Amino acid sequence: MASLQGKNLIVPGDKSITHRAYFFGAFSQGTSRIINPSPALDCLSTIKCLSQLGLDFKFDDGDVILTCQGINSLQRPQETLDAENSGTTLRLLMGLLAGRPFTAAITGDESLQRRPLKRVSEPLRQMGAEFELTDNMHAPVVVHGNSLEGQSFQIEHSSAQVQTAIILAGLQAEGETSCVVPNKVRNHTRNMLKHLDLPMRSSSPLQLGVFGLKSQISPFEMIVPGDISSAAYFIVAASLLSGSDISIDNLGIDPGRTLVLDILSKMGASIEITNTRLLCQEPVATVSVQHKNRLNGITIKSGELATGIDELPVLALAGAFCQGKFIVHNASELRHKESDRLSLLVDNLKSAGVSIKSSGDDFEIEGSLTVPGGSLWKTSGDHRLAMTGLIANLLFEQPVEIDNLDCIAVSYPAFKADLDLIKV
Ligand code: S3P
Repeated sequence: MASLQGKNLIVPGDKSITHRAYFFGAFSQGTSRIINPSPALDCLSTIKCLSQLGLDFKFDDGDVILTCQGINSLQRPQETLDAENSGTTLRLLMGLLAGRPFTAAITGDESLQRRPLKRVSEPLRQMGAEFELTDNMHAPVVVHGNSLEGQSFQIEHSSAQVQTAIILAGLQAEGETSCVVPNKVRNHTRNMLKHLDLPMRSSSPLQLGVFGLKSQISPFEMIVPGDISSAAYFIVAASLLSGSDISIDNLGIDPGRTLVLDILSKMGASIEITNTRLLCQEPVATVSVQHKNRLNGITIKSGELATGIDELPVLALAGAFCQGKFIVHNASELRHKESDRLSLLVDNLKSAGVSIKSSGDDFEIEGSLTVPGGSLWKTSGDHRLAMTGLIANLLFEQPVEIDNLDCIAVSYPAFKADLDLIKV
């Protein structure tokens, strides 16, 4: 069996933070520099949509140079905006466009057209914007921007995308806009507000409030840390493959993203976090992982899931090999990602010979020393399932046949090449 080995590894810049840097750039007047932006196709979707609204993007030696003349310079797009596969692009655009004095249509690919949008349109509607949704809940969506009134929301889903859409609208609204999420989510919007020195109010880690901007944001520099969602594949694999020893530098470790580290550590993995510091208000560190013993079983509580919902598929592989049971409760949000990740994950693991039971939105894996594999691994074009399949192929007795690898570029175009570099 292979092991993973490599010191001072670097993974690409964080996708969530890169999207936010571009969206906050839409409020700026002047030229900003985004250093180490994510190479994900999703972030290119954001660039294309914001360009249609009048922002200028240039690529400079791996950096992105963004020029905008302030939020009031944004123009009605000539054509429908296409968020392609990117849920973050679509939902953040809805928040941004809610406060603009024009109408714009946004669409996306087949997968994006299946994702729920009412959770975003409803609060924005209460602030004053109007939306025409397909079947009353999906893209394509038409946004009729308007002058907005600040509001206080207690939202139902632990979603950073919904929270961020509300905040982007709140920056354009009269008065204060506040959003409380039910459980901890990623903090990148809060961190970006701090980095840009914008007034905000936060009475707890679950609450975030902003005020309508009275002036434009000054141009800024943002250094994007490594993406923990991309690193998760290597971290899980190194925890499971005997002889593995890796360290990843400059990795974002926002507490709203660390489920993969927290769960593996609780399962008994050897994970060390050193050199922790703040980079542009984002916590970053070196994360070292060495293979130690077989991991123990665990139960993941539903309230924790938002801090690692994208990593749950690969984390389930740790469950497949644990001693005991790996139990996940109420993973309903997994059904609303780029695919119904819950059904596909359960089906793929079952076909590969993992002992897995599911009931409603819960699933339970009985860990084993070996998994036969040799089955078809269905992705439905979902990048995270495809990368999970490639990690499964380091672990299963026989490789699975992954039905789509091209989709990996949605978040991590060089994933396979980077994996091959550290595979020994
Ligand atoms: C994201 C938030 C998460 C995550 C998505 C990126 C973000 O979605 O799954 O990949 O950048 O805010 P939700 O906030 O809708 O759970």
